[in-house]
Amino acid sequence: MSKQQTSVSSAASFPSSSCTPPDVDRLATLSTHLRRLLPDTEKYPNPIDFVVPTWETLWRLVATSLAHVYDNEDYRHNFHELLGDPTPGRFRTTSLDSNLCTEWIINETLRLHPPSRHISRSFPLVKEHPGLQILVSLLPKFIRDRLRLDSIIRSEIADIESVHLSTDIWGPDALEFKPRRWERHAGAADSAPTLFAFGYGPLMCIGKNWAPMAAALIVGAILEGIDAEGLEIIGTAVIGGRAGWAGWEFKHPEDFC
Ligand code: HEM
Repeated sequence: MSKQQTSVSSAASFPSSSCTPPDVDRLATLSTHLRRLLPDTEKYPNPIDFVVPTWETLWRLVATSLAHVYDNEDYRHNFHELLGDPTPGRFRTTSLDSNLCTEWIINETLRLHPPSRHISRSFPLVKEHPGLQILVSLLPKFIRDRLRLDSIIRSEIADIESVHLSTDIWGPDALEFKPRRWERHAGAADSAPTLFAFGYGPLMCIGKNWAPMAAALIVGAILEGIDAEGLEIIGTAVIGGRAGWAGWEFKHPEDFC
C-alpha cells in the first residue's frame, strides 16, 4: 500500500509523503498475523522489521526464478542436482549435464528482477556540513525553529534496476534471461561487479551470501513437490513483481478436462 500514489485529501495528514495513508483496520489485521508468525515479543519487538528484509525479498526471488525455470529441462535439472547435493560447491559448480551453474540462474534472476529496484538514503543536510552546523548553532533558537533547518533532508536514490538492465553494461540482450552470461564472471576475483541486488557498501544485505542458495533450494523443493503431486505450472509471458502474477497458476492435469 505504501507504494500506491494517492490524490485523496486524506493524504493531507501526511504532508511529506505522496503515499496512501494506512488503512487502520487492515493494519491491525496485518499486525495480528505478523505477531502470530513471530510470537516472541522480546526478540521481535516489531515483526515487520524481521519479515520485510528476510521474507519479502526472498519470496520474490523464489517466484521469479521459478517462473524462468519451470519450463526448461536444463534449468530444472540443475535445481534437481542441487537438492541431491545441497552444498555451496554444487550451487557454484557447473553441471556436467547442462553445462550450467545454478548460481548463474539465480544471479540472472536477481539481475532481471531485483527485489529492491531502488535503494534510497536520506541525510540531514545540516549534519552533513560541519560549517553549516556551526552556523546554525550560532543562530538564536527562535530563528532556528522558524527556519527548521534541522528538518531539511537530502535524499539519494540508487536506481538498481536501471544498472541491471543497462544495454551499455550487459549488451543488446540485456533484457533477455541468459544465465550463461555469468560464465565470464566465474572464477574472477570480483565475481559479480555489476549486480547490486543486495546493495553495496557498509549497509549491504547481511543475507547476501546465504540467500541466493537458500532461494535455489526452495525453488528445487517446489519443483520436486510439483513433480510428486503431478502438478503443472501454467505461466504467461509476464513475470510479476509485487503484483502482476495474473494468469499464473498451479494446475493438476485433471483440472484441464
Ligand atoms: C534474495 C534475497 C534478498 C535480497 C535481494 C536482499 C536485498 C537487500 C537489500 C537491497 C538491502 C538494502 C541494502 C542497502 O540499504 O544498501 C538489504 C538489507 C538487509 N537485508 Fe537483505 N536481501 C535478501 C535476503 C535477506 C535475508 C534472507 C536476510 C536475513 C537472513 C536479509 C537481511 C537483511 C538485513 C538485516 C538488512 C539490513 C536492513 C536494515 O538495516 O535496514 N536479507 N537486503
